[in-house]
Amino acid sequence: MNNQVKKIGILTGGGDCPGLNAVIRAVTKAAIANYGYEVIGYKFGYRGLYNNDFIKLDAHSVSGILHKGGTILYSSNKDNLFNYQVEENGQCVRKDVSDVAVENMKKEGVDVLVVLGGDGTLTSARDFARKGVKVIGVPKTIDNDLSKTDVTFGFNSAVDVVVDALDKLHTTAESHHRIMVLEVMGRNAGWIALHAGIAGSADVILIPEIPFSLDAIVTKMNERSQRGLPFSIIVVSEGAMEKGGELTVAKIVSDSPDPVRLGGIGNKLAIALEARITDHEIRSTVLGHLQRGGITSAYDRLLSTRYGVAAVELIAEGKFGNMVALQDGKMTSAPLEEVIGNNKQVGVDSELIQVAKSLGVSFGE
Ligand code: F6P
Repeated sequence: MNNQVKKIGILTGGGDCPGLNAVIRAVTKAAIANYGYEVIGYKFGYRGLYNNDFIKLDAHSVSGILHKGGTILYSSNKDNLFNYQVEENGQCVRKDVSDVAVENMKKEGVDVLVVLGGDGTLTSARDFARKGVKVIGVPKTIDNDLSKTDVTFGFNSAVDVVVDALDKLHTTAESHHRIMVLEVMGRNAGWIALHAGIAGSADVILIPEIPFSLDAIVTKMNERSQRGLPFSIIVVSEGAMEKGGELTVAKIVSDSPDPVRLGGIGNKLAIALEARITDHEIRSTVLGHLQRGGITSAYDRLLSTRYGVAAVELIAEGKFGNMVALQDGKMTSAPLEEVIGNNKQVGVDSELIQVAKSLGVSFGE
């Protein structure tokens, strides 16, 4: 046991995600019960660290939250303390305020920071580790795009939501002989579209890793019609693009460290297909933030709980600067230095792509 640690702080950064509360609960319970650490939770991610805004966490405050989506600590995807927006002489300027956070931790006697986040939030965690702060990362994101771990928590819950939507869209597709397009999240990785597309029996799956051609999609629709299947389901990842085309951007959130918000490819695709397919009506649905909300799946409750307990074990072992990770079914850890800047995309020759192709699924190639 690392006896130097007495108090840990937890924060949740970036977009909310099913499983955040389950990790908060597991870290808090295991830290108190197994090592007698005190636990506090910073509110609104790094902003809470900057403002020294926190709540005490104990068995009582984390009771009843295992299944709930969202985060009892609130979150923000705008507060990078290494490039933070502050007002100086009536002007908004960006500056590195990370020292303020370090001072706040010292003032409260917080020895270790447990950071639940995706790419952006864990980049700051790495930067705090570089400053000498004792940090442990926990891999959060519905996109499943963090490297060094097989699965991030939240991904499975999002896939469940998409599969449920596909089951529902199938009924209309079949009843009306329509082509139904479903746009899903995932940023620049097609994990959600691929997993949900296979589990939800999609006919076409379009992912960022495989640029598509409209001709290939039309050919697939025609083939299905000729085989007596005059309806189709297309799952399109928000980061998918036509061969030689560009990303479809929904909006720019200018005060966010990662300002580009993808979205709109589903409608764009439906319009482009309507011009080429006249014997079927085409409808498009955008699932959006439904994929991040609601009840946490049983798989994610278990995974998040394992991650939370593993994070506390890393603290006890003094293995700071690492992220807890799942590799080949086992809990392990990976240096944040190796996780960051190395996002995980779907391998175009991976087993799941081959499985889908074996079933006749088209990737619009
Ligand atoms: O990273 C999670 C995610 O939901 C992405 O899939 C999506 O592109 C993005 O966040 C949406 O961000 P926001 O909640 O800011 O619209």
